[in-house]
Amino acid sequence: MIEFIDLSQEKPYQVFKDSYEHALENKQSAIDAISISSYNPELSEVESRFVNLKYIVNDEWIFFSNYASAKSKSFKMHPQISAVIYWKKTNTQIRIKAKIFKTAEKFSNKHFESRSTEKNALAISSNQSQIIESFENIKTKYLETLNNKDLLQTRPSYWGGYSFRPYSFEFWTGDKFRLNKRSLYIKNKDNWDYYLLEP
Ligand SMILES: Cc1cc2nc3c(=O)[nH]c(=O)nc-3n(C[C@H](O)[C@H](O)[C@H](O)COP(=O)(O)O)c2cc1C
Repeated sequence: MIEFIDLSQEKPYQVFKDSYEHALENKQSAIDAISISSYNPELSEVESRFVNLKYIVNDEWIFFSNYASAKSKSFKMHPQISAVIYWKKTNTQIRIKAKIFKTAEKFSNKHFESRSTEKNALAISSNQSQIIESFENIKTKYLETLNNKDLLQTRPSYWGGYSFRPYSFEFWTGDKFRLNKRSLYIKNKDNWDYYLLEP
């Protein structure tokens, strides 16, 4: 589930909320999964991965991750990203272009405190994206962290939120005769330009 807090009244945010509610009513599973693509200029590579979108606060889309992971290195060097969601139940695709940045520490702390001990033990014990010797080592490290009450008290500095602010949205709705509807919103200063695209 995505939590909406003080959602922006701007048009594409409201279209997104309506579309989300429609997918929710249709019992879409993994409704909060969103694919984030980043570019690493050192490697000249684009890479994608799913994350769970946790919040949309006004116009900030927020997920949580490890700040030393592969994606985080790419975000630092190249903060422009693209994101995509597909909801099968309603045959809807939403494509986003955005700039990404670290979420305010206060917000990350609050979210960390709201999570289960098990999830936080993993956030603390994992050096996400590093090559490992064996899965057994990971399990041992995880269980040691889970039993360390002191360590579990505070959010580690290497884990927290990422926020992105979209500057482009494309809503695609599939049609059984392939007359798919594509609506594009592009941020233009304080307004959103609106276009319809050929399917
Ligand atoms: C449905 C789904 C949700 C996921 N959610 C997250 C998430 O919220 N945060 C995260 O760091 N990784 C999440 N992952 C794992 C990432 O896809 C990825 O494997 C991990 O973040 C490492 O990516 P990186 O090596 O590109 O940094 C999720 C995977 C799936 C399949």
